[in-house]
Amino acid sequence: MNIQSQVDLWFDDYNRRAAARLDAVPALRGLYEPVYYTISQHGKQLRPTLMLCGNQLFGGNPDDVREAAIGIELFHNFTLIHDDLMDKSPLRRGLPTVYSKWNANTAILSGDAMFSLAWQQMIAHQHTATPQVLQCFNQTATLVYEGQQYDMDFENLPQVSLDQYLEMIKLKTAVLLAGALKIGALYAGADANEIELLYQTGIDMGLAFQLQDDLLDAYGNTATLGKQTAQDIRDNKKTYLYIKALSLADNTQKEQLKTIFTHQDKSEAEMQQVLDIYSQLGIRQQTEKAIVEHTEQALSSLSKINTDEKRKDVLHNLITSLLNREK
Ligand code: IPE
Ligand code: IPE
Ligand code: MG
Ligand code: MG
Ligand code: MG
Repeated sequence: MNIQSQVDLWFDDYNRRAAARLDAVPALRGLYEPVYYTISQHGKQLRPTLMLCGNQLFGGNPDDVREAAIGIELFHNFTLIHDDLMDKSPLRRGLPTVYSKWNANTAILSGDAMFSLAWQQMIAHQHTATPQVLQCFNQTATLVYEGQQYDMDFENLPQVSLDQYLEMIKLKTAVLLAGALKIGALYAGADANEIELLYQTGIDMGLAFQLQDDLLDAYGNTATLGKQTAQDIRDNKKTYLYIKALSLADNTQKEQLKTIFTHQDKSEAEMQQVLDIYSQLGIRQQTEKAIVEHTEQALSSLSKINTDEKRKDVLHNLITSLLNREK
């Protein structure tokens, strides 16, 4: 069975059981309905897919990964529920976000519940690798919050360096992709050296992934993406696009960008002005170039891993296919 079908089967089963639990406790629908609403939306399920890839790369047994694969996707979904509240995003996966469909308190509490459900999954499977898996999971979670804190802090800074930006997206996004690969490899009993190379593969893949996320925010299509576009501009996010634009802008463009990025409520004209400056400076092409560079870095680390070469195909193809993603 291919990796995606395997992950789909696991989630079909988990969601069926979650739906049954929801019906069994009608008094707690307020807590669990938003949880079910979120997990049944079926995102790309990239992180569980990576976990299974990391496991297969070293000839592991998929049954070992099953519970943790669901756990890491629950964790990811929890971060999204809180992220949408923090970013004031109205749409996710083509549907209203939890905080806008219900309210902020519901987003906080159902997110909390999802974090516990994620942990429950992570500890469900007894294995010699379990202590290392839990250590990796908890450390990764902490790093994600650190990244999210930087992301929010940067909203209020006029300028952020490229290094600060890369560190921020490494923390908020890349470590979870890298952690997913690593947990898969830990369950397969891979050597520390190979795990380190795989982790680095995940970091560069994750940087490319977040750069693409920034790009799609500006140039994607809401219907395909399932998220409201230009939300990063509304939120004064210091994305790769903004940082690159500031570095290439003349003094007038710089002033315009910096001024607009202090406004909390931007007019349509201001939003358009930002996009116009990006297009005058070729920011879209610059960002695409950076995405390709990080993707090549990821593939280079993957190529150095000592394992059966044929086993690398699935991850190799997944990494390159993300270059064309539109959601
Ligand atoms: C969105 O993650 C948050 C980021 C780290 C950019 P995904 O793009 O993987 O979202 P889903 O789960 O497929 O909806
Ligand atoms: C989200 O980054 C990262 C985490 C959820 C940890 P973004 O805020 O850019 O993700 P989207 O664009 O809302 O999916
Ligand atoms: Mg967001
Ligand atoms: Mg965010
Ligand atoms: Mg984004």
